[in-house]
Amino acid sequence: MSFQLPAEFNSQPTPFYYYDLALLDQTLAALTAAARPGNFQVHYALKANSNLPILQRIQQAGLGADCVSGGEVQRALEAGFAPDHVVFAGVGKSDAEINRALAADIFCFNAESVPELQVLNELAAAQGRKARVALRINPNVDAHTHAYITTGLEANKFGISLSDLAGVVDGLDSLPNVELIGLHAHIGSQITELHVFANLSRKLNELQTWLEDRGHQLPHLNVGGGLGIDYQHPDTNPIPDFKAYFGMFEQHLVRRPGQQVHVELGRAVVAQAGTLVSRVLYVKESQQTRFAILDAGMTELIRPALYGSHHHIENISSQLPALAYDVVGPICESSDTFAKAVQLAETRRGDLVAIRSAGAYGEVMSSNYNLREKAEALYR
Ligand code: LLP
Repeated sequence: MSFQLPAEFNSQPTPFYYYDLALLDQTLAALTAAARPGNFQVHYALKANSNLPILQRIQQAGLGADCVSGGEVQRALEAGFAPDHVVFAGVGKSDAEINRALAADIFCFNAESVPELQVLNELAAAQGRKARVALRINPNVDAHTHAYITTGLEANKFGISLSDLAGVVDGLDSLPNVELIGLHAHIGSQITELHVFANLSRKLNELQTWLEDRGHQLPHLNVGGGLGIDYQHPDTNPIPDFKAYFGMFEQHLVRRPGQQVHVELGRAVVAQAGTLVSRVLYVKESQQTRFAILDAGMTELIRPALYGSHHHIENISSQLPALAYDVVGPICESSDTFAKAVQLAETRRGDLVAIRSAGAYGEVMSSNYNLREKAEALYR
């Protein structure tokens, strides 16, 4: 099996993002079925993809929204997420963003520092409200993933470090407009070694007991996101193993009666449903290398340039025997390379190329560097 572009898109101007909404729906069905037995509350991390048609389907499937900016909070509300299903996270929330989220009466702020808690308290008081808060702790648990997307280590900027937690919790008494409702931790993204979630669970168990000893009962635990996908096999393995993922928490997280456990997944929901479709502008043979030069580049999908990420690439126009190509974009940076020495069916000018698993952190991270126009999004 290989990638099938709906025929009506064959002559669309390229590059464009194509979203397979049927696969998105199947993924959502698998996710909600796996979450249901353990009553996990799933919030979708908008940062992965915030296109309205995608958000609307996710909202209709019953997920909440995990937002990291005022813009995302606003987009979530526009897409129909109820305010009490919206969480606002992020290490640097501005006063204006906090004020808008307070006014919308969102479910919870994930707070990352003492100064932020003080600002939340002040701004909530000014609006005559209480800000519901989960403390984002830095659990110092290694996610075994790429360094740029590891977030739960002491060395990362995220969360409240465990050594500071006692001071933070004791200080809550002086913040009457902040209501502590939970703990939050997120250790990283594209996690494929699921046992790290067992380590995270054990850390949260300890912290919970410690907090209870100090008189804090928490109705909510948020274990973050990070479930990885199979970038190598988008056709044979398009839907992540949500059962195994939730199973780690069911097995290792000690839940208090009535306590809600939240997860905030981004990539695992949308990555496989998105494909970047591009046309070959030129095939150029140098002494050592055969280049396929595409009309898409790091401006449309920066992951290979930024993280060295692998995306499966196919020439969907050619049936010829395969040759080795460096697949590159038109941007004036050597890092504007999608893949080196990859096998593609023999490629000619005008062929269409599919760059797979690009639905998460693809379009949202695009830029107009070199004054390039934004690629269109097409859905089916
Ligand atoms: N919660 C928090 C606090 C996060 O920081 C993130 C992602 C998520 C949830 C969602 O994680 P996911 O389930 O999607 O792994 N641009 C990078 C990924 C950055 C992830 C940032 N935080 C990439 O293209 O791989």
